[in-house]
Amino acid sequence: MAEPWWRDAVIYQIYIRSFADGNGDGLGDIAGIRSRLRHLADLGVDALWINPWYPSPMADAGYDVSDYRAVEPRFGTLADAEALLREAHDAGLRVLLDIVPNHSSDQHPWFTEALAAGPGSPARERYLFRPGRGADGAEPPNGWQSVFGGSAWQRVTEPDGSPGEWYLHLFAPEQPDLNWEHPDVRADFEKTLRFWFDRGVDGFRIDVAHSLVKEPGLPDASDLEWPRKPVEVDGELQRAPWRPHPFWDRDEVHEVYREWRLLADSYDDPKVYVAEAWVDEPERLARYLRPDELHTAFNFTYLQAIWDAGYLRQVIGETLEEHRAVGAPATWVLSNHDVARHVSRYAREQTTPGSSLMELLGRPADLDLGRRRARAAVLLTLALPGSAYVYQGEELGLEEVEDLPDEVLADPTWERSGHTDRGRDGCRVPLPWSGDAPPYGFSPEGSTAQPWLPQPAGWGPLTAEAQSGDPGSMLELYRAALHRRRETPALGDGELTWLDLPEGVLGFTREPGFGCVVNVTAEPVALPTGYDVVLASGPLPDGMLPAATSAWLARPQQ
Ligand code: GLC
Repeated sequence: MAEPWWRDAVIYQIYIRSFADGNGDGLGDIAGIRSRLRHLADLGVDALWINPWYPSPMADAGYDVSDYRAVEPRFGTLADAEALLREAHDAGLRVLLDIVPNHSSDQHPWFTEALAAGPGSPARERYLFRPGRGADGAEPPNGWQSVFGGSAWQRVTEPDGSPGEWYLHLFAPEQPDLNWEHPDVRADFEKTLRFWFDRGVDGFRIDVAHSLVKEPGLPDASDLEWPRKPVEVDGELQRAPWRPHPFWDRDEVHEVYREWRLLADSYDDPKVYVAEAWVDEPERLARYLRPDELHTAFNFTYLQAIWDAGYLRQVIGETLEEHRAVGAPATWVLSNHDVARHVSRYAREQTTPGSSLMELLGRPADLDLGRRRARAAVLLTLALPGSAYVYQGEELGLEEVEDLPDEVLADPTWERSGHTDRGRDGCRVPLPWSGDAPPYGFSPEGSTAQPWLPQPAGWGPLTAEAQSGDPGSMLELYRAALHRRRETPALGDGELTWLDLPEGVLGFTREPGFGCVVNVTAEPVALPTGYDVVLASGPLPDGMLPAATSAWLARPQQ
């Protein structure tokens, strides 16, 4: 029997607001995706994951959903969505959507009903409302902090005008947390999954999959740090020991996913899930991937890894070991819409794992080096056993836009942090497709609307049009690697065997007859002998592998 498609799929992430604008309003949309399906099919990916396209007040770029079973009018209609699904399938591309179960929008009918119904009402029980502390209830119920800054609690004004209860929001105040102990919540999400599955959606990416269930009683805790920072032991960085947390990665959450798996498996062509779970411990992450739970999970430990051969090898090795234990394929990802683009991360000397823009600002950057490392990293990523993700624009080698003017910043983090954290807009700048000036073909010719975030002046050489057909470009490297990956039986799901190479050089073989080497050092090293080079991330003078370069190798047939 053929392996299920998702065990070795390469999945392209479409951040819909910034992919392509079909109607000329400066915001990406479904029409834009439909107009660029050729680019995606030619690139050689197997599936698309589309960030939330549901009706939303956009307090958090669509992760505040006010209706889970409809399409945001600015992105198109349900009919447009159905047409996209058909066309993508015709082009050989599967489609995953994004489901946001931890919280709804504060404009969701359930939440407006809860506010109007007042304390003690059944409508409030679908969320996490609590009385405040202190004599007049003016203090939040506990000290939990929001991911976007400040308290995770917001006080409401009751229908009679008096200051009232508080509700929990682990993210923005416009994103009230749902109560996953409530049967209505569970039933409604199953209805949503079915709604989209029945329309041909192939699966879901589950937003903050590790947060749904909170510790009973919502107790205060002295240590809320997450992810926990690595600790130094004898001069070496080690993962902090795992400890239970009142709202992240609680054991009870797995019960939800066992139900969801039954639903996915009830389809003739079973549907699939990928968990967004920021769980740093490979063993804890693997729990989401037990055979009766989710299919895959993003590997954020790999995403955040520093450019260091020893560390990369450790992360890859542990990932494979933990996934093997539950029979799930690993996934590999370098960037997404929540982290600084990896070209800009690799442009800096890195000493500790991380991925946010704030860790980069003010540190000297060498973008040429960042791009060389990014080229080397994608060949590594696509050669590893399992499935991989490509975040839109990384195939163009885009860097993080680090100098967006304050007044255009839209990420709620910027306001919630009192203008100290510049947030995630720098990786969300609309894609450059063609031409040598903004909007670089992002919006249709003749449209006068500005892209919702300004694009840099220097992106002319990075457009898809400019890179197409240039053998030295990032785009052609991605195309070559993705097509060769498909044709190479050793790649995709399976195992690897590490090669014994000099310090700072990472290499492995995969059977039959494939090898991958990455020079993570700053000096050229000799290529292993006995192989032919089939693809390299840069020029290879005289049998050498230059610094920040990788190569795919083939053992000549006997
Ligand atoms: C996830 C999303 C992120 C969003 C958050 C709250 O981490 O990827 O963009 O802000 O959840 O929904």
